[in-house]
Order: sequence, then C-alpha cells, then structure tokens
Amino acid sequence: MGHRDQSNPGSARNTPRAPAAPRPHPGPPAPPEPESLAPAVERWFAAAARDLPWRTHPRDPYRSLVSELMLQQTQVARVIDRFDAFVARFPTARALAAADEQEVLAEWSGLGYYRRARLLHACARAIVADHAGRVPTTAAELRSLPGIGAYTAGALASIVFGKPEPAVDGNVIRVLLRLHGSELAQDAPATRTWATDHARALAEAADDPGAVAEGLMELGATVCTPGAPKCDACPLRASCVARREGTTTTIPAPKTRAKVSALFCDSILDEDTRGRLLVERRPTAGMWGGLWQAPTLEQPDRAPTAADVRAFARARSVERVESFEHKTSHRLVRFRVWHATGARAGSLRVRRSRAQIAELGLSNPQRRILLGP
Ligand code: ADE
Repeated sequence: MGHRDQSNPGSARNTPRAPAAPRPHPGPPAPPEPESLAPAVERWFAAAARDLPWRTHPRDPYRSLVSELMLQQTQVARVIDRFDAFVARFPTARALAAADEQEVLAEWSGLGYYRRARLLHACARAIVADHAGRVPTTAAELRSLPGIGAYTAGALASIVFGKPEPAVDGNVIRVLLRLHGSELAQDAPATRTWATDHARALAEAADDPGAVAEGLMELGATVCTPGAPKCDACPLRASCVARREGTTTTIPAPKTRAKVSALFCDSILDEDTRGRLLVERRPTAGMWGGLWQAPTLEQPDRAPTAADVRAFARARSVERVESFEHKTSHRLVRFRVWHATGARAGSLRVRRSRAQIAELGLSNPQRRILLGP
C-alpha cells in the first residue's frame, strides 16, 4: 500500500509547494460588442440560413408580410405546409383585400389562431386603401397596420427594406439573455425592452440589418435552442457569457406558467340521407372566433350527461363515438363526439356536404370531427 490517501487524490498535505506565482487578475471579461457580434451573425446567416419558401432574393414584401403573420404563433414546419397554397390563392395584397373573409379563414386552416387571418385580411385592405397596394417600408408605417406589432414591424422593415430596426421574438430574447449571461425572466416586459435595446445596437452596427435581425431569430431557432444549445456551431460562442460560465441550461430562467383551465366540448354529428352534416358558426369574439363547427355544447366545469347532450342536440337519440383532448396555451379542451339522429337544422344550424365543409374556416379539432383525421 502506498502512503497516499487514495480516497482524496487531491490531498497534497505532504507535497512541497512552490511559492505561489503572482497571478494576473483578469477582471470581468469585456461585454460582447455589437461591432464584432453583428458581422459574425451576418456571416453565419449567409452560410447557414434555412431555405424557406418566403426567403426569396430579393425578398418580396407581400410574401414576407404573409409569412411573418403566419409565423407569429406557429412553427416554421407548419407554416411551410400552408404558405405556398395561401400565396397561390391570394398572390398580392390586392387579391387578398378583395377576397371574402370566409375564403381567407378557409385557406388559413391548420395554422390556428385565426384572429391573425382576420388581421392579415384587414392589413391587406389597409395597404390597398392607404398605401396604393404596396407594403409600406418604415417600421412606424408598418406598425400602424392591423396585425402588425413592434416585432413584425421591425422584422419587415429590416429583413425586406434593410432598415436598422430590432425584431425581438422569444428566440432572440433567449439568444441575447445567454450571450449576456442575464438571468432576467424571459417573459417579463422589462426583458423585452432590454433585449430590444441590444438588438437595436446590433442592427445599427450591421452592414445588412435584415441579416442580423433574421440571423438572430434563426440562431435561436436552430442553434441556441431551449433545451440543448449547439454551442459548437454558434458564431457568438467566443463572446457568450452563459457558455463561459456554464449557465446555458439555467438561462433563460423558466417561464412562469400560465394556468391551464379545463373545457368540455361535446360535438354532434348528425348526417341526413344526402350525407350532409349540421354545422354552425362560432361567435366572432373569443376562442376560434368566426370559425365553423359541428353543433357543440361547451361548458367549463364538468362533462355533460348523455341526456344533456341529447337535449342540446334536440335529437331523438345520441351515441358517443369518440373522445380526444386538444391543448391550447391556456386550455385543456376535452372533446367528445356524438352521433345524433333526428336533430334539426335551424336559423343557426345549417346542413352542408363534406365538400362544402372542407371549404369553411375550421379549427383543427373541428376539422378532425367533421372530416376525419
Ligand atoms: N420566425 C418569425 N419570423 C421568422 C423568419 N423570418 N425566419 C425564421 N423564423 C421566423
């Protein structure tokens, strides 16, 4: 046996020590500088940008507007699925402005958050009425259009029109919090203000502000991802405080979760001898506002009984055929689907064929109920 204490290999009690060399005190590292960060993002984006259908060269203002509104609350993969069909059907702001709202909602199907479709439609109408059909070029003018907030105005002004404007979404906030090693809460309004100041400094230091704005979004979406950032692929790794301090997994601080409330939705499928189903339109305000659905009994606290459903359907009989859950950011919706016989159309409930229903604006769960998975 040796004399070293194997359980404590670091112990050096008996080792003679060299006199401690004076160590230079490095002080706090210099903060990341926009003048070096901006070109690094631009170069990286030129090499690594995903090829997406709206990223044409040069950018088309109308297609960019449509894509930015679609991307506001929807993942890129889903937008890719719907984008080409939407702009093929409504190829210009004028074409969109001239369309009927139901056509627009139908073409938006699958993207969710249908209020955006109505806002995009209103936006196209404002562009025709107030800007001769051309998407305006400054963040201030863009901001005054329906559906366009600070983020979308900044994104369009920079990406399409080359203006040094910040565009701060959740991805950009995460990138900047890590870059600066900041433990600010990612969803606090003050954090957005902080991030907007930093993003503006980067935009102003850029040769191509659009490449910096979109590059920061892209970095957050593909490299500086929430769970396991791919720091080796990051153009900002040498300046990133969170990487240096090993805090990429604790920054950003977890979000305060919104409370999720339960909702019970019982939908009636009543098919007549010509294969037509009953449908009704939801009120314009609120969840899935203005979209069509199978007649649906909606209540917050508990599921209705079969007798409740039959009374609601005004049917001779009802039989439960399917149940599934649908999660939104604030709700857990428990759907149950009932086959009914003898329900009648009325002033609000109308009969439509499946082909006609496919042309209506439908939420994803109602599309599944009425037209199948
Ligand atoms: N999310 C919102 N806008 C985007 C864009 N232009 N590119 C990638 N992701 C985005």
